[in-house]
Amino acid sequence: IQYTSLNPNFRTISPNNVAPPPPTTVNSSTTQSFPQTSIKPTGQYRAYSPQHFYQNRILDQYASQSINPITLRQLIVFGRNLTEERIIKSGNYVRSELPVRIAHRIRDFQNLPFIVGTNPHLARVYDLYWLAFERLRKIPPIRTIEENNEWCETIKNLLKDHLVVIPQLAMGIMECSEHLSGEQIDRFMNTMLRSRISRRVLAEQQIALTENWHDPGYSYDQSENDGWIGVISTHCEAKEVVEKCAKMTRSFYKTYYNVEPPQVLVDGQVDTTFAYIPDHIEYIIYELLKNSIRGVIEKHSPSILSTSQSPSKQMLESSQLFPSITVTVCSGPTDLYFRVSDQGGGIPDKLYPYIWSFASKSNDKKILHKFTNFSKVPQMAARVEEYERHIVPPDLSLGIGLPMSKVYAEYWGGGLNIYSLDGYGVDAYVKITKLGNRTENLV
Ligand code: COI
Repeated sequence: IQYTSLNPNFRTISPNNVAPPPPTTVNSSTTQSFPQTSIKPTGQYRAYSPQHFYQNRILDQYASQSINPITLRQLIVFGRNLTEERIIKSGNYVRSELPVRIAHRIRDFQNLPFIVGTNPHLARVYDLYWLAFERLRKIPPIRTIEENNEWCETIKNLLKDHLVVIPQLAMGIMECSEHLSGEQIDRFMNTMLRSRISRRVLAEQQIALTENWHDPGYSYDQSENDGWIGVISTHCEAKEVVEKCAKMTRSFYKTYYNVEPPQVLVDGQVDTTFAYIPDHIEYIIYELLKNSIRGVIEKHSPSILSTSQSPSKQMLESSQLFPSITVTVCSGPTDLYFRVSDQGGGIPDKLYPYIWSFASKSNDKKILHKFTNFSKVPQMAARVEEYERHIVPPDLSLGIGLPMSKVYAEYWGGGLNIYSLDGYGVDAYVKITKLGNRTENLV
């Protein structure tokens, strides 16, 4: 059977090296498995070729291995006093972990129903994963710092290639939602996203440690380097995190709605500091504040929605005052909490059961748009949204901000909960473990 590309843009990213996509035509039952493609550099391919068989045998060898999860504390302790030997050691740990972690996820793709695998967005991610797997598994053991530098270049390129993954996955899964149950979708997406975070943390930490090592100005004395160890900050300041995210979201809505957005107040134990990957906590707080600010503006200025095609053209009373949003910081013996409280009208009872789901159908997505995302932003969210713009039609929201935030919160053993008073507002609780002693949450 000759297969051709479903997606005309399929080969634009890396024309000489992208694996062929799955079949264009689907006349099979949905219980059949995803086509197990092989990576070949050129042209069309035959599924079930000897090459394909051989490559899946190799995949088996990796997918049958268990992964070695780490804790934030291990990363911190390890990175505290680097030596060349330690950099090479961690380079080799990352080198052996990445192909195993990605092999498990390739297997997940193969276990999807056949028809789902024909979706071009999912096929694109599947092929990116195969490409990465093939590249990663062939890296020989790292013996010198120069080899480690080359290794960092390889993973830097892979990190860049994989920026498209989240919007592609979310789009693909949304398009296939009639072929999968809500639980199947959520299980697949949660596993994919956790694993992706884990691979990126390992890769980014190795790159950052290597950069620290080569930086003559870098000091391993934590009091002199603002507490940075690779991508981890040992001195994250709770207040600063909230204020940074508030500034970005307020500035966005100021332009979008042409109003002075609600104030974001921070109270409680505002001076708390903690060790974390700032990108992770900022993503969560940013998403929650976006929902809150948008909810407050829309509840207290309903007219803003009436000509909603270009709300920024709306001229509202500039003097209009909105009820503030309060972020309360509470630091317990083992955990740190952020409570984000707004008076944005709450979440309608009929939508509440779906807020954590990646599985809402497109109609729901349009309603959920109110609580989720669009816009441009820093770090983690910016990377997702920048690529989202190329992949997702402008009138559609992926609606993944909340479930993604939960994945981030739970990743290092914390959590995210939302309590809604329908008609009044929302209280969102983010829990972060302060001791850094919980292993990555990959299940
Ligand atoms: C990802 O971002 O999905 C990755 O797997 C990156 C890793 C291959 C370095």
